[in-house]
Order: sequence, then structure tokens, then C-alpha cells
Amino acid sequence: EMMKDVLGLTFLETTLKEKLHLDEVIVVSGDSDHSPLVKKEMGRACAQCIMNHLQDDEVVAVAGGTTLAAVAEMMIPLGHHRNVLFVPARGGLGENVENQANTICAKIAERAHGKYRLLHVPDQLSKEAYESIIEEPEIKDLLKIIRSAKMLVHGIGDAQTMAERRKTPKEDFEKIKKGNAVGEAFGYYFNQKGEVVHKVQTVGMQLEDLKNIRNVIAVAGGASKAKAIKAYMNQSLATILVTDEVAAKELLREL
Ligand code: BG6
Repeated sequence: EMMKDVLGLTFLETTLKEKLHLDEVIVVSGDSDHSPLVKKEMGRACAQCIMNHLQDDEVVAVAGGTTLAAVAEMMIPLGHHRNVLFVPARGGLGENVENQANTICAKIAERAHGKYRLLHVPDQLSKEAYESIIEEPEIKDLLKIIRSAKMLVHGIGDAQTMAERRKTPKEDFEKIKKGNAVGEAFGYYFNQKGEVVHKVQTVGMQLEDLKNIRNVIAVAGGASKAKAIKAYMNQSLATILVTDEVAAKELLREL
């Protein structure tokens, strides 16, 4: 804590917390865009944050991405927390296996010595397929559990970067571009004002479910994500932000 003060991180945390109307902001020193170690530190801070807010018998929904992979890597055992269940927040978003929420979920649970359940649905479903798959008893049961989550942990991405990284169909790509999307979180693309300009059609947690979640922990860093973080924060759905120094400073300039 003393180190944080010396680095001015506490100032960044309190100022951002106030300006973004969040319950908590955690800033780690450095730049995760350029240092894998800083990304790991964000992962560690996020893992600790999960533990601090977790309650017994809770369902924790997790999204995918490389930042969440760092959280999984730094995850710590649940300790005294009883009966915690980890689930992926949403179905496939077109990511490679290592970035998928299912993969991250299993890893986090393993490190935490907790239980997990995985959601096996294909990516980018058609409307008809979507409507029939959510009626499958096993899926239906799991979807209910996912939507009962009291904690959600997710990354935030730059819209263009995410659309390119995922196997985004051409017409969706155009929609994202035309809508001037700057930020992305769990398959939702936001413009600067925080309005949704596109969502990936998939099962699981939907944006409107977030208001029922006690702790929505967003974890994202690097100057390249400042605009994306700001856009998403305009939705006012997150309660906690875990970020790094350069993103925090850039965010403050933008606010
Ligand atoms: C995705 C999440 O998997 O990862 C998104 O669903 C997030 O919420 C994205 O935007 C961020 O990825 P990364 O690799 O930059 O952490």
C-alpha cells in the first residue's frame, strides 16, 4: 500500500472511482500493452479482488480473453469460501480455444479448487438454432444458473481488435464499423457514448442481466484500451474496475 502511494496509484484509484461512480478501482503500475508481467499483475490483483468480494454458495460467471487468461493463471484457492461454482458468462463468441470463456472458466476453477460447469453451444448461432438450443433441458438448466450469478468477471477490448480477432462475419464487421464501435465486452460492441451498436448472438448472460449482479468486475489495461474502457463505463454496469497505470492515466484525460 505504501508503494502504491509513492507511485501515485492511490490517487488514480480514488479519482477514477469517483468519476466513474464505481465501488472500487484497482490500478497496478505499468503498461500491460507492452509488458506481460504487468498483465500478470493485473491478473493477480483481479484474483485477489474476486476473493475479497466472493460469498459462499455463489455462482461466478467469467468471460474469455487474454486478460482473463492472466486472471486464471494468478487465481488462488478459495480457502474458506464454500460451494462456489464457476461458469462461462456466454456461449461461443468466435474466439480461439485459448481465449474462450469455457477454457478460462475451467482453468480458474482448477486453480481455485472450485467446481465448474461448461456451456457447449456452437459459435454465432442463427436465430432459429438459438431459439431451439435454449430449450434443450440441460442447456436450459445451465443458463438459469449462469443468469443467477452474483459475480461476473470480464475483459474489455478495443472494438476493431476484437472484431478482427474473432471470426466475425462480413456483414457484422460492417455493422460494427458503421456504428463507430470503440469498445467491446463479452460480445457486445459499444460506441463512444456506450450505446450497443452490435451484439454477438449467443446464449448465456445478456447485457440486461448485469443489473442483477452484485459484483461486475471489469479487468482491462493498456493505453490502447482507454477509449474502449470509457465507452463501456458509459453503460454504468460495472461495479469494479481493475486496470493498469497507463490506461488509468489515459482514462482520466478522457473523462
Ligand atoms: C473477450 C471478452 O473474450 O475478451 C471480452 O469476452 C473482452 O469481454 C475481450 O473484450 C478482451 O480480450 P483481451 O485478450 O484483450 O483480454
